[in-house]
Amino acid sequence: MIALTGANGQLGRLVIEHLNKAGASGIRALVRSPEKAQDLVSSTVSVVQADYDKPDTLTAALSGVDKLLLISSSEIGQRTRQHKAVIDAARDAGVSFIAYTSILNADTSPMILAKEHRDTEAALKASGIPHVLLRNGWYLENYAGTVAAALEHGAVVGSAGNGRISAATRSDYAAAAATVLAGNDTSMRTYELAGSSAFTLADMAGEISTQTGREIPFNNLPADAYAGILVQAGLPQAFADILADSDTAAAGGALYSESPDLENLIGHPTESMKDFVQTQVG
Ligand SMILES: NC(=O)c1ccc[n+]([C@@H]2O[C@H](COP(=O)([O-])OP(=O)(O)OC[C@H]3O[C@@H](n4cnc5c(N)ncnc54)[C@H](OP(=O)(O)O)[C@@H]3O)[C@@H](O)[C@H]2O)c1
Repeated sequence: MIALTGANGQLGRLVIEHLNKAGASGIRALVRSPEKAQDLVSSTVSVVQADYDKPDTLTAALSGVDKLLLISSSEIGQRTRQHKAVIDAARDAGVSFIAYTSILNADTSPMILAKEHRDTEAALKASGIPHVLLRNGWYLENYAGTVAAALEHGAVVGSAGNGRISAATRSDYAAAAATVLAGNDTSMRTYELAGSSAFTLADMAGEISTQTGREIPFNNLPADAYAGILVQAGLPQAFADILADSDTAAAGGALYSESPDLENLIGHPTESMKDFVQTQVG
C-alpha cells in the first residue's frame, strides 16, 4: 500500500495522476477533509482522513501502509510539529519507507522557509525509518502571478537580482515523486530536484517581451519594497515577507542547482520557463 499526505493539494493530485500512469494500485490518499476529496476515489485510490493536527487520525490512516509520501504541509510555522506527528504515526504503524518533499539545497539554504524542512529532515533521520529526501526546487507556477502582474503593469518585479533559478512545474516534481514511490529502489538518498535549465527574472522578463511583442523590463527591488508590492496585491504581510526573503536568497543562488536528479527520475528534460510563460500569456 502506497499512501500520500496532502493528497487533495495541487502537488498531491498530480502525484496520484502519475502513480496511476505508472500502473500503481493500492494508493491511499490521506486528506484533511475527505468530503472535499471524494472525486479522488477510484478502483486504485481510496481516501482516508489524516489531519496533521489530530494524531489519532494519522495512526489509523497509516495502518497497513508500506510506503508513504509526506508532502510538506502548507501551514508555514506549524510544519515541524505537524510533520513530526506524521513521522511518529508512521513509526507506530510500521511504515517501512518515507519520501519527504523538502526544499532544494535544504542543508545550506538561507531561506526562512528552509528551516522547517531542515528540522523535518532531522526528525526523519532520528526516526530510523528508511527514507529519501525529495528536495524540490521552486515551482514554475509560483511565477503565474509575476507574469500576470507583468502583463498588467508592464514590468517584472522581484528581489532575485541576477540569481539563477532552476524551477520546474509541479507536474514534473510529482512525476519524480511517483517514480520513487512506484519503484523498487528504497535505498536512502537525497535527490536535489531542479529544473533542467535555469533562468534569472531578467530572462523571464525578456521571454515575456518576446512572446508579447512588448518591452517588459525587470525591476530589481530591495526586499521590503518588493514585500510592500505583494501586500498591495493582497498578500498578508507575513507571507509577503517570506516571499521577499526567498527572492533575496535566490539572488545568492539558493534556488539554483545543476543537479540532474529531476530529469533522471522523470526520464526527460523538465518543462522550460519559455513553455511556462507561453501557457500564461497564450
Ligand atoms: N517548491 C515550491 O515552490 C513550493 C511552493 C509552495 C508550496 N510548497 C510546499 O509544497 C507543498 C505542496 O505544494 P502544493 O502546491 O500541493 O500545496 P497545496 O495545494 O497548498 O497543498 C497543501 C496540502 O497540505 C494540506 N494540509 C495543510 N494543513 C493540513 C493539516 N493540518 N492536515 C492535513 N493536511 C493539511 C492541505 O490540505 P487541505 O486540502 O485540506 O487544505 C493541502 O492538501 C506545500 O504544502 C508546501 O509545503 C512548495
